[in-house]
Amino acid sequence: MFGTQEINGDGILEIGGVSVKKLKGEYGTPLYVMDKNYIVEKAELIKKSFKSKVFKTDVAYASKAFLTVGMCKIVEELDLCLDVVSGGEIYTALKAHFPMEKAHFHGNSKSIEELNMAVEYGIGTIIVDNHLEFKLLEDICEKKQKKINAILRVNPGIDAHTHEYIQTSKFDSKFGESIFMEETKELIRRINRSEWVKFEGIHAHIGSQIFDINSFLKEAEVMTNYIKELVEEGIGIETLNLGGGYGIYYSEGDEPIDLELCLKEQVSIIEKINEKYNLGIKKLQIEPGRSLVANAGTTLYTIQGLKTTYSGKNYYFIDGGMTDNIRPALYQAAYNGTIGNRCLEEKENSVTVAGKCCESGDLIIKDAKLQKAELGDILCVFGTGAYNYSMASNYNKIPRPAVVIVENGESALMVRRESYEDLVRNDV
Ligand code: LLP
Repeated sequence: MFGTQEINGDGILEIGGVSVKKLKGEYGTPLYVMDKNYIVEKAELIKKSFKSKVFKTDVAYASKAFLTVGMCKIVEELDLCLDVVSGGEIYTALKAHFPMEKAHFHGNSKSIEELNMAVEYGIGTIIVDNHLEFKLLEDICEKKQKKINAILRVNPGIDAHTHEYIQTSKFDSKFGESIFMEETKELIRRINRSEWVKFEGIHAHIGSQIFDINSFLKEAEVMTNYIKELVEEGIGIETLNLGGGYGIYYSEGDEPIDLELCLKEQVSIIEKINEKYNLGIKKLQIEPGRSLVANAGTTLYTIQGLKTTYSGKNYYFIDGGMTDNIRPALYQAAYNGTIGNRCLEEKENSVTVAGKCCESGDLIIKDAKLQKAELGDILCVFGTGAYNYSMASNYNKIPRPAVVIVENGESALMVRRESYEDLVRNDV
């Protein structure tokens, strides 16, 4: 159990002091439930651990993990920066009146329209991905007579051990420019000379859901040594951004990294190399997404079918599935769950939880122990706060669930449930 989750005297799961039975009654299912206190506590831990006496430190929330107008407001309350990757994410931040100077704009394929938007609305920093993007950005700034800060995303070639689809720093990755290519230094020189783009530093992100602390430490070391090469050429690097990717617990077998330790060690390695070579680094940044919100989220489903196959496999059928959680189908991600209205009963049944989509791969939990369930019971799946709502789809014309935030015995709607009318709104 995570955050404020508790089991009450009737064996019903409560999140943020609100029972899942009440949440189902009030908002219906499927329902994403976000635990505000979990997010606040995790953010405080990250900020506290990622501190330095030498550098200014910024924590930018990677909003692709979970972004709503309400979430932007929480990010602002927590005094975090916001990492955005598309015009849609920029627009969401604008709608929330998020201070755009604290937004960082990422992406390997930014459109001219998106770059225009970023310059127009005064995004704090653009994380430039490549040569052509820099040229486009410079032209846009000149045309608008507006300057912008930029960081170059580089690929430090670190092979982080995680799912192939979420590795980002192998030699053939689509992200950033390789530190092993002379052209990358040439690009840095060009940005550094630019009249319109202020060169701030370099960025790397080595992947997501990484459990090995050494991958992060290696990244810190390789990036700082690269800065040394640049400084030796007379190019000042103020900012080093190390990206996100800190692995979290979803289910048995996951050994999440000790985030506090990892962040402190990252800072300490950079402090040492910075001092040894007098590099003059001024600011360190990280971009956690999943580690901030994944375990704040629980998805509630109603069990609406039970089946035992000829071969003896037990299924629980739910009213959602791969449309609200694509991760098991896409990354073979494993989740834990419980029957939220039967928490005190033994988990004795080996079952597979299947979604309602017309896909054999629409399985949310495979062969796990769960309590014996009846129709109408509430299945709670844990750890769904990151990359669930944000990757949801309308496959099979299934409306996206509502999102609710809970805190101290109160719940509030964050995102309304989609209606059937919403599904045909853009059809002509
Ligand atoms: N910074 C950059 C540049 C990123 O590309 C990402 C994630 C992050 C930060 C945040 O990483 P995190 O701390 O959340 O691991 N959909 C996949 C994850 C894709 C991650 C994409 N980039 C999943 O569901 O596992």
